[in-house]
Amino acid sequence: MQVNSIPTTAYTDQKPGTSGLRKKVKTFKQKGYLENFVQAIFDAIPEHKGTTLILGGDGRYYNLPAIQIILRMAAANDFKKVIVGQHGILSTPAASAIIRKYKAIGGIILSASHNPGGPDEDFGIKFNSANGGPAAEKITDKIYTYSKNIFRYLIINSDKINLDEPGTQSLGKMQVEVIDSVSEYAELMNGLFDFSKIKSLLDNDFSMIFDAMHAVTGPYAKEIFENRLGAAKGSVWNAKPLPDFGGGHPDPNLTHAKKLVDAIMTDNGPDFGAASDGDGDRNMILGRNCFVSPSDSLAVMTANADKIPGYAKGLKGVARSMPTSLAVDRVAEQLNIPCFETPTGWKFFGNLLDADMITLCGEESFGSGSSHIREKDGLWAILFWLNLLAETKKSVADIMKEHWDRFGRNYYTRHDYEAIDASKAAALIEQLRSRLPEIKTSEWSEYKVQDCDDFEYIDPVDNSSSSQQGIRILFDNGSRIVFRLSGTGTVGATLRIYIEKYEGNPDKQDMDTQIALQGLIRIAEDLTGIKQNFERSAPDVIT
Ligand code: G1P
Ligand code: ZN
Repeated sequence: MQVNSIPTTAYTDQKPGTSGLRKKVKTFKQKGYLENFVQAIFDAIPEHKGTTLILGGDGRYYNLPAIQIILRMAAANDFKKVIVGQHGILSTPAASAIIRKYKAIGGIILSASHNPGGPDEDFGIKFNSANGGPAAEKITDKIYTYSKNIFRYLIINSDKINLDEPGTQSLGKMQVEVIDSVSEYAELMNGLFDFSKIKSLLDNDFSMIFDAMHAVTGPYAKEIFENRLGAAKGSVWNAKPLPDFGGGHPDPNLTHAKKLVDAIMTDNGPDFGAASDGDGDRNMILGRNCFVSPSDSLAVMTANADKIPGYAKGLKGVARSMPTSLAVDRVAEQLNIPCFETPTGWKFFGNLLDADMITLCGEESFGSGSSHIREKDGLWAILFWLNLLAETKKSVADIMKEHWDRFGRNYYTRHDYEAIDASKAAALIEQLRSRLPEIKTSEWSEYKVQDCDDFEYIDPVDNSSSSQQGIRILFDNGSRIVFRLSGTGTVGATLRIYIEKYEGNPDKQDMDTQIALQGLIRIAEDLTGIKQNFERSAPDVIT
């Protein structure tokens, strides 16, 4: 086997501090571009020689060519073995589970999550560490530095590796093992949830739809929902992963999964509906005529964890990202367990999970998960709900109503303004930051500011700090407005405005969310001047 050392350009356009690289396919196809980042990953973990690497992606356009390149580079860089998902497919949660199970040094996941795919759309690559979670900042900083200073990458010549059948083959001195990740993942879920109880629910006239959005979860969902749990054939929509996700935007929310939402949000719709995103880590939960906000979903899961076999022993604690609503905090208080508030991004949950300080965690952005892996997990959340429905024999709407009766309701919405001018967006946040002392003493009719700041997080495990994580304004009636800029968009900047209002009175808990929040929405618009300054009449996405 001849190892070729190919001179390369040092591309420098990764955002420092981000855990991966997400760019247009055309950018990735530039000569040496993908190779540069992959070599930087390998150089950043010098202990990789003789170890095992996990590799797979969400099936989007360029997934397979990228996998072939990475395999040849891994062989040249002296890995002992690479375990690849069959057909090059691995959902992000399955990759996390497999890294842990096979005690790999880490995994390379090819995905741009919920961003559209296709020749003119997005591609992405990220590195997860041995704990199965997104690499910590000290590794991603190293990758960034290496990618800037790189001058060569190592690769061997070889024919294409066949990824279509499970089994082991050689590539130079390295082994390539193709595995059926679907059955491995299904077994992991079977160990956490009561499959026979869910099966009897689904056998008994209970109808569900799962929309895989032509993304990675299709094969997993077919196997779990239809084959193992007996959901009616055809319950899994858009099950075939397609390189361009069928032209759609594989993001499970009220805007991008509209067909599913329309099918469930009626009086005679199916009992249950759910969807997941491009790489399978997000989830949306719906019941007949009932949308469960992700923040509420985390609160309900926390309140009912004792009913689920995998969590019956109780929860160590819970965590939510800062912009996620305070609903779970109320549950944690009653259960008398710790509740942590972390910056946006799953990586911040990793230390708390590794230290066994939390069992469940979640984000408002349709992500929830548990200590079973180190990524959020779309199908896991959906199975959690199905298990809960099977156990309680209640409808989704009843579960929500009872939850709000008991804990109060946090009306919640997120307004996104996409592709706005990046420097204007940064200036807007800077301006809000400088106005914090003035905002602190402000008051708008029933909304009196209690406190406001730019969120700073000190990790309780390693004491590392992360500052400037979002402007948050807390009102004295428990309402909140949060402003932050997206770290994952690929065009211009995206301003996210998160708005919530607490309502403890059960008689006032069934209002339309946007109406319940209209006073706060106006305050947020006033504070940003979004309509005048950015000439926007409405948010691009409301969730
Ligand atoms: C978004 C979500 C965030 C999530 C991330 C990755 O990041 O808001 O909660 O962790 O995608 O799925 P953002 O674009 O807001 O930085
Ligand atoms: Zn995702």
